[in-house]
Amino acid sequence: MIGRLNHVAIAVRDLAKASQVYRETLGAQVSETVQQHEHGVTTVFVTLPNTKIELLEPLGADSPIAKFLERNPDGGVHHICYEVEDIIAARDVLKAKGARVLGDGNPKIGAHGKPVLFLHPKDFFGTLVEIEQV
Ligand code: CO
Repeated sequence: MIGRLNHVAIAVRDLAKASQVYRETLGAQVSETVQQHEHGVTTVFVTLPNTKIELLEPLGADSPIAKFLERNPDGGVHHICYEVEDIIAARDVLKAKGARVLGDGNPKIGAHGKPVLFLHPKDFFGTLVEIEQV
């Protein structure tokens, strides 16, 4: 069911510093900063030849990644995103197979303007999984 790896997301404390490291140390192509108020994050995307890296910094007091950074003060891999063709069909198959879908179970519009859902990390070996319809 899942297709390509769309991105790997890394939570960081200092997005400007992380952007600089990816741009200058790693020599990667780094996007402009985008504030996503409905997701509680500020993001940049690093474009690689075969996938993307999403750098996430907390935005606002209720940011879902604030707690993650409390547990991981140096930052760390926060989630991975797989592409699916039909997010509603994928959700229904996953639920039928016992996977827990986070939130109210309805897709939200993600960072690329496409519908996304998140799956419970305990069902996927400790990794928060995002699925995105492409
Ligand atoms: Co993501």
